[in-house]
Amino acid sequence: MLETLNQIESEGLAQLEAAGDGDAVEAWRIAFLGSKGRLRGVMPMLKDVSKEDKPAVGKRLNEVKTALEAAFEARKAGLGSGGSAGGPALDMTEPGLIESQNLGRRHILTRVREELVEVFARMGFAVAEGPEVEDDEHNFVKLNIPADHPARDPIDNFYVDAPGSRAHPRMLRSQTSTVQIRVMEDAVANGTGPPLKVISPGRVYRPDTVDATHSFMFHQLEGLYIDRDVTMVDLKSTLLHFARAYFGEDAEVRLRPSFFPFTEPSAEFDMKIALKPDAEPDWIELGGCGMVDPNVLTACGIDPEKWTGFAFGFGIERLAMGKYGIPDIRMLFENDVRFLEQV
Ligand code: DAH
Repeated sequence: MLETLNQIESEGLAQLEAAGDGDAVEAWRIAFLGSKGRLRGVMPMLKDVSKEDKPAVGKRLNEVKTALEAAFEARKAGLGSGGSAGGPALDMTEPGLIESQNLGRRHILTRVREELVEVFARMGFAVAEGPEVEDDEHNFVKLNIPADHPARDPIDNFYVDAPGSRAHPRMLRSQTSTVQIRVMEDAVANGTGPPLKVISPGRVYRPDTVDATHSFMFHQLEGLYIDRDVTMVDLKSTLLHFARAYFGEDAEVRLRPSFFPFTEPSAEFDMKIALKPDAEPDWIELGGCGMVDPNVLTACGIDPEKWTGFAFGFGIERLAMGKYGIPDIRMLFENDVRFLEQV
């Protein structure tokens, strides 16, 4: 019996060594340690062993079992980590299988948004956020947009509450200008401002028909600066500074007179930027801006005799499409991997 045990041990260890992969190692386990395996197979022989020899044989049986089990565990662990005792050593300097790895990255809009936040942060703007489900008080009323203004038409907005069903029907915000109101209200309530200097990037919603330049959901970035004696010069130099920091030293900014209910005077602003490194710079229309209307300051509890400010807002998609040469806004939302791999 002792001889049989010795044989099982040496054959077992040799065969385990030779087992090339996980399947072979498992087959070995069944053959040697399984309930019908070689080790169990010798048990019936125990009853024929003489009384004096029994302790020694029993001890040896346990030793062999322990040795095979330990070898099995070690072999399994070795396979798991890609190496094996006695097998070829793991070469840590071998190049990885890079082609087979699909490394992800953040979406182009996320990256642009972070770039913008960083540029404005360097100019001293903090980031503020507001809710996407807003009410008409913040989306319209306090922004000096009167009840009969066409922008409030239910056909041009995603109302959540039926108009008239409550004092301030909720809606998906149609512009990030809502956050101007929230920031001013909060600052007055908490005594933390003005002065105020914030930007607010975020999603906005409008029931527009989707095409190459329109989407029912897109992103805007809003800016608000309230202080003593802020003027139109501060507004234009901030926009110019931003344009040059983001697009390069050749970028230019121009303001065209316009109208927004929440600013007076109001302007639209364009930036002259080279859309490709070697292309001639061209003007793109980017957004709206102006001096915060005194009615808006008053609605938020800020005295327009003491404080003035400017505001601006522009579409992030538009800017990203300009900077990265993306021809169709839908590409930004379809999440086609072929597109995402390029930007
Ligand atoms: N909210 C405007 C829009 O969605 C953009 C805008 C214009 C924002 C003028 C401003 C501003 O802050 O001063 O079209």
